[in-house]
Amino acid sequence: MATIHVDGKAYEVDGSDNLLQACLSLGLDIPYFCWHPAMGSVGACRQCAVKQYKDADDTQGMLVMSCMAPAKDDTIISIDDDEARDFRESVIEWLMINHPHDCPVCEEGGHCHLQDMTVMTGHDRRRYRFRKRTHRNQYLGPFIAHEMNRCITCYRCVRFYRDYAGGGDLGAFGAHDNIYFGRHQEGVLESEFAGNLTEVCPTGVFTDQTHSDHYTRKWDLQFAPSICHQCAVGCNISPGERYGDIRRIENRYHGEVNRFFLCDRGRFGYGYVNRSDRPRRPEWRDENGHEPVTLEVDAALERAADQLRTARRVIGIGSPRASLESNHQLRELVGDDNFSTGIVARELACLQVMNRLNRETGVATPTLREVEAHDAVLVLGEDLIQSAARLGLAVRQAVLGRRDALAEQRGIPGWNAEAVKTLGQDTFYPLFSAYPTATGLDVIGETTWRLAPDDIARLGFAVAHAIDDTAPAVDGLDPAMRDEAGRIAEALLAAQRPLIVSGGSLGSQAIIEAAGSVARALARRTRQAGLTLVRREANSTGLALLGGESLEWALKEIEADRADALVILENDLYQRLPQGQVDAALDAADTVIVLDHQRTGTWEHAHLGLPAATFAEGDGTLVSLEGRAQRFFQVFDPLYIRPETRIHESWRWLHVLKAGLERRSGADVTLDEVTRACAERYPALAGIVDAAPHADYRVEGLKLAREPHRYSGRTAMRANLNVSEPRAPQDPDSPFNFSMEGYNGFHRPRQEVAFAWAPGWNSPQAWNKFMDEVGGHLRAGDPGVRLLAPQPGDYTYAQDIPPAFTRRDDAWQVVVLPRLFGGEETSLRATPIAERAAPPAIILAAEDVQRLGLAEGEAIALETETERVVLPLNSSDGFPAGLVGLPSGVSAGMVSGIWGRLHAASADVVDHAPGVDRPPRTDREEDRP
Ligand code: SF4
Ligand code: SF4
Ligand code: FES
Repeated sequence: MATIHVDGKAYEVDGSDNLLQACLSLGLDIPYFCWHPAMGSVGACRQCAVKQYKDADDTQGMLVMSCMAPAKDDTIISIDDDEARDFRESVIEWLMINHPHDCPVCEEGGHCHLQDMTVMTGHDRRRYRFRKRTHRNQYLGPFIAHEMNRCITCYRCVRFYRDYAGGGDLGAFGAHDNIYFGRHQEGVLESEFAGNLTEVCPTGVFTDQTHSDHYTRKWDLQFAPSICHQCAVGCNISPGERYGDIRRIENRYHGEVNRFFLCDRGRFGYGYVNRSDRPRRPEWRDENGHEPVTLEVDAALERAADQLRTARRVIGIGSPRASLESNHQLRELVGDDNFSTGIVARELACLQVMNRLNRETGVATPTLREVEAHDAVLVLGEDLIQSAARLGLAVRQAVLGRRDALAEQRGIPGWNAEAVKTLGQDTFYPLFSAYPTATGLDVIGETTWRLAPDDIARLGFAVAHAIDDTAPAVDGLDPAMRDEAGRIAEALLAAQRPLIVSGGSLGSQAIIEAAGSVARALARRTRQAGLTLVRREANSTGLALLGGESLEWALKEIEADRADALVILENDLYQRLPQGQVDAALDAADTVIVLDHQRTGTWEHAHLGLPAATFAEGDGTLVSLEGRAQRFFQVFDPLYIRPETRIHESWRWLHVLKAGLERRSGADVTLDEVTRACAERYPALAGIVDAAPHADYRVEGLKLAREPHRYSGRTAMRANLNVSEPRAPQDPDSPFNFSMEGYNGFHRPRQEVAFAWAPGWNSPQAWNKFMDEVGGHLRAGDPGVRLLAPQPGDYTYAQDIPPAFTRRDDAWQVVVLPRLFGGEETSLRATPIAERAAPPAIILAAEDVQRLGLAEGEAIALETETERVVLPLNSSDGFPAGLVGLPSGVSAGMVSGIWGRLHAASADVVDHAPGVDRPPRTDREEDRP
């Protein structure tokens, strides 16, 4: 700690900060541009000038850049000093010389850091009367729009893109007052984190292209605190809605999870909420398969109750993309013995192993923030940038952390970004990774191996044995691999905080067990090991805690005629099992009731379809891969703009359906009641009631506002239906109002913040006002509750070590490789994600391609007993011979570990390969206001 004096007042601050960070953390306003809490200082913009005095006798003082000066004990500064003020005003004036002053048509307007800082410095007159420098803009892909004239040359974009996120295709070109930030030539930005440029850039150079397509000012959007549903990491998001459409997703600060950044799937994959082909009313299809007819809610519920009442046995199929509350209500409806998690057996087994290891190894799962503090990482069987992108970004920071350690040894503060980078150059903490193909982190990896899944597991077991010889030895291990295992073991043991990362991406329990063994072996030698296990879907962890049978079990019960009715919750079975297997079960069932928000293959087979809320239209709880239960809140009421719709949360549908079945009245239920019932029912989920404030939570006696106080046009919003404005929708499920009435300030700490705003701070930088210190935690504590704590007890090393992979002459072992864009079913329904997804290909080892005499790009058919996939060939150096790689999302019947045959196929078949079709556009032109 240190005492600093600012404008005559003494403050206690963290002495390791720079003055800018220290002052902002105190709530004092200093304008700035190039400094960023996650990226440190470079002193480029000169905007943060303050007057610093040598001692109490110094009346002259000198201007310093507060971001480049340490907050040492007894530092005396003035923010209000006239010279400092004039200097800051001049800086803004210089920066504005070439700025187009196009705020009224600029998409950044209203949440622009440059606007805020211009107002803060008092610059309000333009004196420059000459021609402005102009640039040509570039096409940068479906996510990011480019308007280079707005640039103020702060260099934040390239620092984030290249240094923080490891991208290589965005740079600074030119010299003097003519610097260009873009690609060397037009084209899609390659980084999976490019969307963060829209928040990192303090002006409107990089804006959200998906938002442009249906643009709304920040103050006209309605928000709610939400959780990304696009993978298991559980990033906190702030979706904005207008006229019943999600218009944009921005980062919502969480001090332990995503902090400032999201991946592009999470940010741009929301289009499925807005699709015009979504089911919005109950649909009934008779047994002859005629076109469905729409029903009113009561009629739909009556039919559902009639069908289920006459059924002999009803099986419920849950979903890892639905909330805990919805899954719980389904289980209540059908009974414990009739509930399936909706997850295939192989994946469910992996999830159960992961939950067990999280408890039994005695090794904690670090939060993403904690991941960044680890100093050696072993990744077994995951390409993190593809399977859990934000976690991959955190691992990158961990590996780069070596630079900070070196800087500390030399007395260079960690915030002095350029000095730290120059000193560290390419010195990294050790990262070891084993995966069948190249991964997004290989470039900073010490050693990477391209191995078949069984060999990855063997490497892991060998490392565990090398660390602790009571762990089983690996029979027949190649001597070179034994040496490598020894080297990894040494590096992990030399580290203060080694981290093991693995997961279920390759569908191999052996890999996960191997990771658990390494973590356990380390835990015996060091106290600070970490174990992070990647799950696939937003609520995979939660479903494994809630429990239930596999999807195959559910289909078998129907096919074997032990049950005759199915209720399927937000789950497209065709994404999980081969078409024939799903068809057989759905055809055999007398009743199929589907709740979903998408018109999936499964929905098309439903006798009765009930339109479910997406994350944007409902509330619920998810459990992330770190075992954190987090609540997402309804962003908008779908009935307000479109009263003809009948969309409700699945848990609400199922609750009312159960009441109808039991011929009970009084079917009203609130989220709090369902969450509480779920927590009481499953001991492992007992903590979820505390994951977020309840509906009766108030600040200063007020509910919380979903809309900024400048929200406009509400009275006219439904004028096409009725000129008298109805009462705003009421929300019995959360502490949020569907209006601007309610608390939206930052003075009173609160965990759930729908949108960040503070007086004078309209941009995402306003999040600083909600933190205990800038870059720290939310003042009220970061939301969510951890459910998967390690438990004391004995851990016995896994003994089941697979034999080495041996290639076969007659068949190829399939490995399905996760992909960020295209590998997840809901986000793939968003047009920009579909555009960004690389065309799928079959991957073979370069040596196999050569041996077979095949050509790159040639159409190849991969056949198993049940499936046939035709795709172009992609040969890969280092890919293990004897394996065939397939990107995820192409065929549900192709799973890692099965064996298939390859044939040459005619090229025209490629166009019809599954997963290649582009979904229809996601925006609704017909009802756009
Ligand atoms: S493009 Fe934006 S982030 Fe990059 S230098 Fe210009 S103003 Fe800064
Ligand atoms: S890492 Fe996962 S949870 Fe986070 S933004 Fe990306 S898709 Fe969403
Ligand atoms: S923020 Fe200090 S120089 Fe840019």
